[in-house]
Amino acid sequence: QPNQTVSQDLKGRRILITAGPTFEDLDPVRFLGNRSTGKMGIALAEAAAARGAGVELILGPTHLSTTAANITTTPVRSAREMHAAALQRWPECTDAILCAAVADYRPETVATDKIKKKDGELTLSLVRNPDIAAELGNNKLADQRVVGFALETENGVENARKKLLRKNLDFIVLNSPRTAGAAFGHDTNQIQLIDRNKVTAFELKTKREVADDILDRLAADKPTP
Ligand code: CTP
Ligand code: CA
Repeated sequence: QPNQTVSQDLKGRRILITAGPTFEDLDPVRFLGNRSTGKMGIALAEAAAARGAGVELILGPTHLSTTAANITTTPVRSAREMHAAALQRWPECTDAILCAAVADYRPETVATDKIKKKDGELTLSLVRNPDIAAELGNNKLADQRVVGFALETENGVENARKKLLRKNLDFIVLNSPRTAGAAFGHDTNQIQLIDRNKVTAFELKTKREVADDILDRLAADKPTP
């Protein structure tokens, strides 16, 4: 049940959230993955739903999940599955927050049988995955908002702003894996919100509090009815 003390400032909004890693299969037993757990995206989904939004959560492979009301979870495995699920739901959504750590590349072919060890080295051939954020950002209507994430190890603000422009995002959330207690697997995160004109820095906080800071910015930017 909605907590009556929480403002319902996202009522009427339908928010698409991608979260977690993607797994790119190599053969029936092996895949390429990454360290994302989906914690930040799930915190965003729960915070948005608590503030009155309907949430479409597209969740990559993780042991985490949510049973909160008003969140529809679509589990996916690969970047291509996540891309297809996101495109399918995007027309009914007012906002998208692309929190997933999407693999940039996938193996060119998926072996039907387990790859056997041979003498010498093995070279993998990788091909590019679709960019979900760029596709939604560059195909949004005037009343749709698209928010991205950037995890940078160097030149954070500069790299994040390049992504903001390239993907036509409304704002981007920069977090650094080098900040103690932030990003992958932690319960806390430290972010900067970056748009075309300004950079706003926040303290190290719980992921739920970080989620609310991100949603405050989104709530302030109301789509025109
Ligand atoms: N993203 C996405 N689909 C992809 C790659 C990234 O939706 N195939 C989204 C991420 O969810 C994030 C934003 O784009 O919101 C930035 O992701 P990031 O990996 O930092 O940017 P890239 O453009 O992939 O650049 P690079 O990895 O080279 O830094
Ligand atoms: Ca990437």
